[in-house]
Order: sequence, then structure tokens, then C-alpha cells
Amino acid sequence: MKYDLEYVLDSALDGIFIVAHDHRLVLFNRACEELYRLSKEDIVDKASRKLQDLKKTLQEKKSEKEKPAYGELASEKERMVLPHKGNKEVWVETIYTPIYDQDNGEIAYVMGVIKDITEQKNLEIQKQVLLTQLSILRKDIESKYDFSNIIGQSSGILNALELAGEVAKQNTTVFLSGESGTGKELFAKAIHYNSRRASKPFIAINCSGFPDTLIESELFGYEKGAFTGAEKTKPGKIQLVAGGTLFLDEVTDMSLSAQAKMLRIIQEREFEMLGGIKTLRADIRIIASTNTDIEKRIREGKFREDLYYRLYVYPIFIPPLRDRLDDLEILAKTFISQMNREMGKQVKGLTPEAWKILKGFSWPGNIRELQNVIERLLILSKNPIIGVNEIPGYIKSAHEIKVSSRRLDPGGALPDRLSLDKCVRQFETNLIVDALKESGFNKTKAAGILGLTRSTFRYKLAKVPHERLKTGWDVNN
Ligand SMILES: Nc1ncnc2c1ncn2[C@@H]1O[C@H](COP(=O)(O)OP(=O)(O)O)[C@@H](O)[C@H]1O
Ligand SMILES: [Mg+2]
Repeated sequence: MKYDLEYVLDSALDGIFIVAHDHRLVLFNRACEELYRLSKEDIVDKASRKLQDLKKTLQEKKSEKEKPAYGELASEKERMVLPHKGNKEVWVETIYTPIYDQDNGEIAYVMGVIKDITEQKNLEIQKQVLLTQLSILRKDIESKYDFSNIIGQSSGILNALELAGEVAKQNTTVFLSGESGTGKELFAKAIHYNSRRASKPFIAINCSGFPDTLIESELFGYEKGAFTGAEKTKPGKIQLVAGGTLFLDEVTDMSLSAQAKMLRIIQEREFEMLGGIKTLRADIRIIASTNTDIEKRIREGKFREDLYYRLYVYPIFIPPLRDRLDDLEILAKTFISQMNREMGKQVKGLTPEAWKILKGFSWPGNIRELQNVIERLLILSKNPIIGVNEIPGYIKSAHEIKVSSRRLDPGGALPDRLSLDKCVRQFETNLIVDALKESGFNKTKAAGILGLTRSTFRYKLAKVPHERLKTGWDVNN
């Protein structure tokens, strides 16, 4: 089968036209006519002007005794929107290229190729929209993670804030330690968003959340086929950070093999993906954190000492909430006003007794726990002032145990022993009083209920404080 060139060009979806130097329209393919509905007069007009421009450029080249290279004289791409096709905007891009006379090397024709770039144009618009949204979000995040949003007036927190503020602008590795929920991640983000890397990503990886083998693929990424199941190449967090900050949360739980690779990254800023042969550069700042005794992990042989020294360059300790209970009220008030806004509530505060209970609690889950408690209080709140009744039972009972052990402990000596003895006695008293009530204040029956002989019961009853035996009750029978 033989194809006629014009027939082939008519099958193309790009518009193709050729105009001669004497303004003849030599070719105007089907796409120009049917898809783009271009006017022949317009095309001849435009192409002739282009041809003149190209000739001029060619003359300039010739005067410089240069022969234009293939493709060199092609025009810039010209974009335009076609008159509406229905209600859809169609964008096209035209490029003009010269066709030389084979005998004298002059430009004999100009060829135009028109492409539909609507899809590309839409993607560009979408990209612009996303970039604008991204910069709005970034500003939002930057303000959210400003140091001023780390609440607290205690010396422990002010000291940590000062250290963090000093180091933020440097590239120094920071080591954050503190119990879970004390704000390590909040500090790490504030350091990042106040550093020169603020416009680059902050990526956190929780080293305790992965089995040994997975942590490496998360951190360093893998090439397709690196292991069974690696169906396509996947970049690791280190690549994704690209100029930003990597937060190694609970770093002591990292496997020893990943630790060796991290050490190399810190020392040489180099690594390879799993199954990869190319050595890649790592442009990252590291902030590490732990809530355990890292030195113990070193002694146990679970954490490399050399890595520890590389990470422990600039330590910041964040004290637990129980050691800075002065901060509790301001923290709780901040959370109340934040959550009021989010939940549309109007809680004003707590009663003095309720504050006392919160301030007396040990907060093992630290600020995260306080946040959760406040959230729960707000959800359940019926009144603008939260009272003792609304405080979760476990916090109240911790308070009650404290109060009763204080009340039962007369001199403060041997508080644990004494409070235990007293508690046992109090428990016994309650049982005796209950048995008496149940038996209608009959001692023999009460002794029977408790499985005691009458004499043992009498002996124990003698120790029951008088006020517990309601006046008028005859317990001598
Ligand atoms: N000083 C603080 N001021 C305000 N919010 C805080 C403060 N410290 C911690 N938080 C909040 O408490 C929660 C737990 O903090 P996070 O940084 O995740 O703790 P960690 O990483 O130490 O477990 C987060 O919601 C955080 O925003
Ligand atoms: Mg954390």
C-alpha cells in the first residue's frame, strides 16, 4: 500500500500548514480545518509575516558566516486560545519552522504545526492554584509552630525554649529528651519552622513504630526488585526531606543496622537506597528524640555509642508536667479557649476545687493527657464552669487516695507503712459496721456474717471508733 503524503498529514491530530514565500497556501491539513477551524486568510497572513522574520534571522546568520543548525531557526512557541468550541476553552500552541530551497539555501516555505495544549494549560493552572494554596498553608503552619505557641512560664520550659531558639537558625543536630507527651515533637517543629529550612519539608519518623527491616526501607527507600514485594522504586524519608528536617522520634528503638547507616549519613552525608548502587547525597538536618534512658540502651548494646555522640550535640531536656505544675493552669486555659473555638462551646474555667484536683495529679501522659482530659471535659460540659463532679474518676480517685493517706498519716513518719495499716483498719471497720447493720445490730449474727467467733468479733469491735457506731444503737447484746 502506498500513501500519499497529503493523505497521511490529514490523519494527524496536529494542525499542519505550509505557506510559500509568495503567500501561496501549499498545505492546510484536515486538523487545521476541522479540529481547529482556522481561517485560511489568517494563517497565510501570520505565516507570511513569520517567513519574513525567519528570512531576516537567516540573513543575520549568513552575514556572520554561520550556517544555521537543524532546528535552530524554529520560532518561539506561540500560545493562543481558540474561539470557543461550545463552552470549552481550547488552548493551542503553534511553532513555525523554515523549509529551505535545496538549490540556493534560501527559505522557500514556512511550516506551522499547531498542537492542542488544553490539558497542559489546565495542569499549569492547577499547579498555580496548588502553589498558592501551599504557600497559604505553609504560612499557617509556620505561625502554628512558632515558639510563642509553646506555652509555659516554668523555669524548665523557659530554659528549653531559650536553648531551642538559639539553635534553630543553625544546622546543628538537636537531641530532645523528655517523657512521652511533654512536647518533643512540638519543639522539633518549632525549631524547623524557625530555621533556614522552613520552606522545605519537616518529616517525622517514629523509630519504634517499625520492625527492623521496615525502618530501613522507610528511611532510605528502595529500588525496584530490592526485595520480594518491591515492585517499584520508592524514595525514603531522607530523599523526601530534601533540604528540610528529619525528626527521628524515639531514636533509641532504631535497629543496629539502620543506626550504622544513619551514622554514615551524619558523617559523610551519603547513603544508598536498599538494592541501589548509586551513592546519593543527603541534605538533611536531624532532630532526634527519646523518652527512655539512652545511656542504658548503650550499656545494653542496643544503641551505638558513636551514633549517640553524633546525635547528642545539642541536648534539650523537656521536663514532665508534674515537675512544672505551675504551668498547668495556663496550659489548660489555652486548651480550653482553643477547643471552645473548635467545638463552639463557652466554657469559662473550673471551680477552685477542680483546679486543685488537676494540679494535684501526677499526669503520667503529660501535656497530651491534659489536652485529652480538657477535651473530654468540654465535650461533656453542661455549665460554663466545670466542677469536681465532671473531673474523670481516675484523677479524682488519685486525689482521694492522696488526701486520705495524708489524713491517716499523723506524723509523716513512715508514711507508706502507716497508711497501709490505717487503710486496713478502716476497711475492717467498714466491714464490721456493715455486718452490724445487716444483722439488725446483733453481735452474734454479725460475727457469723463475717465468719468470726464471738470473742474475736468483740475484740475487733472494741477498736471501732465510737462515732462510727450511731448513738442509740444497742451493740451490747
Ligand atoms: N508547652 C506546650 N504548649 C502547648 N501545647 C503543648 C506543649 N507541649 C506539648 N503540647 C501539646 O501536647 C501534645 C503532645 O506533644 P508532643 O510534641 O506530641 O509530645 P511528645 O513528642 O513529647 O510525645 C501536642 O498536641 C502538643 O501540641
Ligand atoms: Mg511524640
